Amino acid sequence: MNIAVFGLGYVGTISAACLARDGHTVVGVDVNAEKVRLVALGETPVLEPDLDRLVAEGVSSGRLRATTDAFEAVQGSDLALITVGTPAGEDGGPDLTYVLAVSREIGLAAGREGRAQVVALRSTAPPGTLARCAEIILEAAAGVPVHLASNPEFLREGSAVWDYDRPPYTLIGTDDPRAESALREAYAGVNAPLLVVAPAVAEMVKYAANAWHAAKIAFSNEIAQIAKAFDVDGRQVMELLRSDTKLNVSPAYMRPGFAYGGSCLPKDVSALLHSARIRSLDVPLLRALPASNDAIVERASVAVVQSRVRTVALLGLAFKPGTDDLRESPAVVLAKRLIGEGHNVRIYDPLVYRAHLMGTNLAYIQENLPHFQSLLVGDPREALAGAELVVVSHATPEFREILEQSPEGTRVLDLVGVFDSPPPHLAYEGLMW
Ligand SMILES: NC(=O)c1ccc[n+]([C@@H]2O[C@H](COP(=O)([O-])OP(=O)(O)OC[C@H]3O[C@@H](n4cnc5c(N)ncnc54)[C@H](O)[C@@H]3O)[C@@H](O)[C@H]2O)c1
Repeated sequence: MNIAVFGLGYVGTISAACLARDGHTVVGVDVNAEKVRLVALGETPVLEPDLDRLVAEGVSSGRLRATTDAFEAVQGSDLALITVGTPAGEDGGPDLTYVLAVSREIGLAAGREGRAQVVALRSTAPPGTLARCAEIILEAAAGVPVHLASNPEFLREGSAVWDYDRPPYTLIGTDDPRAESALREAYAGVNAPLLVVAPAVAEMVKYAANAWHAAKIAFSNEIAQIAKAFDVDGRQVMELLRSDTKLNVSPAYMRPGFAYGGSCLPKDVSALLHSARIRSLDVPLLRALPASNDAIVERASVAVVQSRVRTVALLGLAFKPGTDDLRESPAVVLAKRLIGEGHNVRIYDPLVYRAHLMGTNLAYIQENLPHFQSLLVGDPREALAGAELVVVSHATPEFREILEQSPEGTRVLDLVGVFDSPPPHLAYEGLMW
């Protein structure tokens, strides 16, 4: 393919050099004449292991060159990649000036040349940016078709060429078959699964990934600080923690849903925070966990209050399905708030209904929902009869079936993802999707 790469920074130079190595004919474009001059000489403008060799080989093979002229680059190219910077602006938001400016240049060039273009946005930019670029490009292209995709890059500086060749997946955010097939062809040399999703999903995944990496680093550092205060080596703690691939470094606990609860997580996070506090250790990430969790319960309670209903059926009361443990259950806290807001709440939870609550479990529910016995019903039909809203706090097959068989127009607030795709007869709303 003939590919134009806009922006000869880290992402652009790596992409250009690797695409040239893989057999494509690539022109790199940059407003910085010095970078263009270096590439033209076969030298890399950014330092990365193996990149100097790839740039030199690309240039000497004639498959890699550079220019400052956007029009000349777009002329004759099948695909344009946008890899310009998206630095933090003064207000902390991403500065999209360069992305939008390049979009206009590509659109104008496509319009002048009168040939359809495929444009992929590889820069990191918030959901909706590709749609903004599309508007600008299509307007500038004045009727010439342009096919667009978001195509975030996942490489890390320092191992960028290695990462380019082994990404976790190639993510293509598009609903345009021509953009998809151009990118499939461009990345045919990359050995990774290729996933096609909606543009905004691809854009959001990149931010989620970077926030997750930041959270992992901050978490490891905070744990190590507390460990040190106990004269324990946090490096060993984290090594053991990450060696558990069943619960720790795994998909477990990584699905959006309702708040955590139960007899362990709230208490043990609290104990850890206490350890930090009495030693004057500042661990803001760990400190934020209870607040973040409470905010989810608050969000659910606001969603119910704003739905302007009086009678609510709550499916699931225990802190998770398959148990009768009510201690620190977010569903209990939610029920308590809703009753406080004047809602009429009926609760169906088969295990809690059948359980002989005792000990701390009984004490917890008596303290938080003193009349819980009168709220609990043993038959789901009883809970749903007359309910204006069904709130689901457990994703169980039984609750799914109850909702599938509920009357047309039943209003459902799903806190946990009981449905991936809800049946059309429900007036369905997910708390966070
Ligand atoms: N650096 C990384 O490790 C990395 C990894 C993944 C994604 N990203 C994302 O990729 C994007 C690029 O990052 P980077 O680190 O390569 O940026 P960078 O700042 O190193 O390079 C950006 C380049 O774009 C050029 N440019 C600006 N306006 C231009 C225009 N109108 N025409 C042509 N070139 C223009 C600049 O001169 C510069 O050389 C960012 O959105 C970044 O968040 C970066």
